[in-house]
Amino acid sequence: TKIYVPRDMAALAVGAKRVLAAIEKEAAARGETIQIIRNGSRGLLWLEPLVEVETPEGRIGYGNVKPSDVPSLFDAGFLKGGAHPLSIGKVEEHPYWAKQTRVTFERVGIIDPVNLDDYVAHGGGQGLAKAFEIGPAKVIEEVTKSGLRGRGGAGFPAGIKWKTVADAPADRRYVVTNADEGDSGTFADRMVMEGDPFVLIEGMTICGYAIGASKGFIYLRAEYPQCAEVLTEALEAARKAGWLGENVRGSGFAFDIELRIGAGAYVCGEETSLLESLEGHRGIVRVKPPLPAHVGFMGRPTVVNNVLTLATAPAILAKGGEYYASLGVGRSRGTMPLQIAGNVKFGGLYETPFGLTLGEIVNDIGGGTLTGRPVRAVQCGGPLGAYVPPSLFDTPFDYEAFQKHDSLIGHGGLVVFDDTVDMAQMARFGMEFCAIESCGKCTPCRIGSTRGVETIDKIVEGVDVEANIELLSDLCNTMKFGSLCALGGFAPYPVESALRHYPEDFRKATLPAA
Ligand code: NAI
Repeated sequence: TKIYVPRDMAALAVGAKRVLAAIEKEAAARGETIQIIRNGSRGLLWLEPLVEVETPEGRIGYGNVKPSDVPSLFDAGFLKGGAHPLSIGKVEEHPYWAKQTRVTFERVGIIDPVNLDDYVAHGGGQGLAKAFEIGPAKVIEEVTKSGLRGRGGAGFPAGIKWKTVADAPADRRYVVTNADEGDSGTFADRMVMEGDPFVLIEGMTICGYAIGASKGFIYLRAEYPQCAEVLTEALEAARKAGWLGENVRGSGFAFDIELRIGAGAYVCGEETSLLESLEGHRGIVRVKPPLPAHVGFMGRPTVVNNVLTLATAPAILAKGGEYYASLGVGRSRGTMPLQIAGNVKFGGLYETPFGLTLGEIVNDIGGGTLTGRPVRAVQCGGPLGAYVPPSLFDTPFDYEAFQKHDSLIGHGGLVVFDDTVDMAQMARFGMEFCAIESCGKCTPCRIGSTRGVETIDKIVEGVDVEANIELLSDLCNTMKFGSLCALGGFAPYPVESALRHYPEDFRKATLPAA
């Protein structure tokens, strides 16, 4: 019997390893032969560790398994998918799974992440085969046609970036995966890398082939040791199978990928600091222009794309740009792997075409708050993203619709708060975060963030409240328009949105107690 026990960090963090040991021990004691497969996570994170058993009817899931549950699972005949209080039935019929449109996450949670045969058996490799068939120029056309935009948050069209690099005259070009996933409440990059690393390797190879690069780097944040382990295994397997190296899959195209681990700086998710760090320097932002597409790693034209962007390329090539473009709304084409987190009942990863409203995501999919109290705010797009109140819950999840309200979808992270949240403290946290993570190169970010913390403290204490709120707004403007990069430039968004939507939280000291 095949039993799936995830090796995704979210499952490991809640005891998947101990559950695995208990299953192995129990099976041995009962003389049962089992085959353990360490899959990625399905993304139904509130159910982890989610153990699955393969049966003729499909894979049956058992959620929140503890080591102490294992004997009773065996008693209930779980090796044949037997009924048990922890059973969720067929995983693929679970509404949280069944209602998704999985493109980028097609195989995540299903396959053995480091088994190339399993990858191929589930459709892996077809994108690159197609790329080799149509040639570099057509690959870029296909990616452009798909409407795929940079999933790191800025949403710049991937095809145009690839074309810029391909067209830049150079002796060498590079592909760099930005895997420095530092936003609060985001974990989609991590889940792809832990659950289907070959899709990233294939996506990078497609990009390298399209732009004429023979070398790629994955810049991975230090806080993701499990990713490093899985990626290392996958890179080795890919090399051994001839999917990387001098002659990729017999095509004559040479490409290899090097894994580099960061040192824990949020700002190294900003592409120019990332490149500095990759070159061995301190992670400090560079002035743009020149863009990395013209002058990137070691001065060469470089595609720097987020994990999700590159991991979507194989599906686009395999299924066609038109298929991908047929999903979504407006200028937001395709799907977005939403990461639903914070105070929410059904936290997890949910891939769906753009266009669901924020209310549908938080209430229908996320199930509202875990505490059962009313939702008061959702921070969308990480620590630099705006707080969105329920009055804006009819906003469709799409780049432009969010921009209209001075908010952003960013990397697709959504952090839910209930009505006990103090938004002045959240605003303070935004400024403090920026102060801690600032690289220090530009004044608005370096000094402004610290002045921001002090000013919010004064407001909260009730010192010259209205004058200090005005000062804070002025400071936000200076940071927005004067900072060198998105760290200082976006840190004001949570602050301004808190001021705009929750003004009462900043005036608690001066308002009479209710
Ligand atoms: P940006 O708008 O300056 O650039 C976006 C990308 O397009 C960059 O790679 C840039 O080099 C490229 N680009 C722009 N014009 C181009 C052209 N004409 N030709 C070729 N390439 C071009 O945005 P930036 O500063 O890279 O990112 C800001 C975003 O990052 C924010 O919107 C925010 O959502 C997001 N963000 C994401 C985080 C995460 O953890 N994923 C953390 C913090 C911010």
